Amino acid sequence: MNVLILGAGGREYSIGLALKKDTNVEKIYFAPGNGASDTIGENIEIEDFSKLADFAETHAIDLTIVGPEAPLVEGIVDVFKERGLTIFGPTAEAAQLEGSKIFMKNFLARHDIPTAKYIETDSLQEAYTFIETLTAPIVVKADGLCGGKGVIIAQSHEEAKKAAGEMLSGDSFGSAGKRIVVEAFLDGYELSVFAICDGEEYVVLPAAQDHKKLLNNDEGPNTGGMGAYAPTPLVDDAIYAKLDERVIKPTLKGMKEEGMPFTGVLFIGVMVVKGEPIILEYNVRFGDPECEALMPLLKSPASELFYKAAIGDLKSATIEFKDAYAVGVVMASKDYPYKSSPPAEIIIDDIYHEELNENAHIAYAGVSRGTDGKLYASGGRVLVCVGLGQSIKEAQKNAYLLVGQVHFSGKQCRTDIAYQVL
Ligand code: AMP
Ligand code: GLY
Repeated sequence: MNVLILGAGGREYSIGLALKKDTNVEKIYFAPGNGASDTIGENIEIEDFSKLADFAETHAIDLTIVGPEAPLVEGIVDVFKERGLTIFGPTAEAAQLEGSKIFMKNFLARHDIPTAKYIETDSLQEAYTFIETLTAPIVVKADGLCGGKGVIIAQSHEEAKKAAGEMLSGDSFGSAGKRIVVEAFLDGYELSVFAICDGEEYVVLPAAQDHKKLLNNDEGPNTGGMGAYAPTPLVDDAIYAKLDERVIKPTLKGMKEEGMPFTGVLFIGVMVVKGEPIILEYNVRFGDPECEALMPLLKSPASELFYKAAIGDLKSATIEFKDAYAVGVVMASKDYPYKSSPPAEIIIDDIYHEELNENAHIAYAGVSRGTDGKLYASGGRVLVCVGLGQSIKEAQKNAYLLVGQVHFSGKQCRTDIAYQVL
């Protein structure tokens, strides 16, 4: 089959790598892709949804996979479905699970799915009153999409009130902050759980842990994610069972009952508090860099998973995962996450070590190809070095051996990915 992947990051690159290994897949296109995805498939420069659908029709695309949340929330799946095209992802209505934090929190409340105590409001007075009932830290969230920046963990009541005021006035996030969620802080460890859903059935992927802070030991500012590993032993059978019964099943049932069956990746941001999984948020797409760690663990053909989910036939699929671990280490540019950095040439040493070649690879993200044909670091998160192994320690060793082979001016990475379980 021919597959079109929408997006430009390491997430989409890693989906491309998984499809490339799949003998059912003939041709892969990326829109727009990045400076390295042209080694996996062909990059195309189309943004408009109906023009993308035209492309899918004229190029006999059997399956389109949407990487990022924005086109999902903006309704690309609806456009493709109206044209009778097969696409993996939720409709705009179902994508509200990520597109509106208020929708998500109210949905959780309606279906009795465990989440932090909250209010949603557009009134500063109401926000102030609720803030007074909580103990710091206090969490204030803009309702709409803010590129991962719309959540403030306030360390005091004053800071929470200030954040609420700045959001509601439109100063900090424009219209995305005109309504807000104020909620209690959850103290525990955070996990990323992904369920591939076809509207009714689902497949749960090995649980992953992201590292959101820039620096070792979870210090420094928040980022999109500096590394991830999977499966994490922090999720035992008891937690999987609770997630299944209390979260995933009621979510899919609830979405169906409310007339918006969920197809695509349900990304469950979980905080485990005293052994109980509490939902922080839903996203409607893969996490990045979690996806880069998960894709190489897939044993079954990637097309089987995504295609069967897209056509609503997961029950006929047998999806298997390797009995292995993956660790992904993000290499970022000099000024990430503060500002963009000047392009820097990427040089990768030849790897003569057969075992490393087999057990480590790069998922390229913020890279572009120069007119000289060379690869340049051009984005914040430049690439992810992914190591595989029979233990997390071995996977981590392979990832960092590969990190040692990669050079570009100003490169930075954490040296402790997976530290919580080692
Ligand atoms: P969200 O986009 O809602 O996942 O929030 C971004 C990040 O803020 C999460 O990944 C958590 O690290 C943190 N966070 C959000 N809500 C809470 C909460 N209620 N308690 C503790 N941390 C939170
Ligand atoms: N790594 C977290 C995210 O993609 O939102």
